[in-house]
Amino acid sequence: MVIAEWHEEYCTGHALIDDQHRNLFSLVNQIHAMIDSPTMDQYRVGELLQVFAKSATEHFDLEEDLMTTYEYPNIAAHQNTHARLLGKVNKVLEQMATTHQIDIESVTPVLADWMIHHIRGEDQRMIQFFQSQPLPVGCSAGQYMNA
Ligand SMILES: [Fe+2]
Repeated sequence: MVIAEWHEEYCTGHALIDDQHRNLFSLVNQIHAMIDSPTMDQYRVGELLQVFAKSATEHFDLEEDLMTTYEYPNIAAHQNTHARLLGKVNKVLEQMATTHQIDIESVTPVLADWMIHHIRGEDQRMIQFFQSQPLPVGCSAGQYMNA
């Protein structure tokens, strides 16, 4: 079952950010399918969650680098939102490591909900701000939007 359904309206127009968002959706769906499976393997769920955490960290680093480059005024609040999400994922991983249990309700529905709201809200506002600004020094339009 797909819990994080991708819609084209979630595209921000930044090719790399959109690819990374699609990949995060795919990972949440893979985790959800594994949790939902009769042959659910906690070890595999943990592995996929670690891949999600690593991919999300790389993705947040990209967004935060761009926000710094563009001197985005809401960078602190946006960074906090990223940090809170990573905190939730790490808490689930710690809980799994100590109790060998997984609280299903605290994983994929939370991740899917967070991503959809974040992408439609904060990320769209961030990209609109970038697009309203002159290009950073040494950066061509093609380089920026299609990087
Ligand atoms: Fe973001």
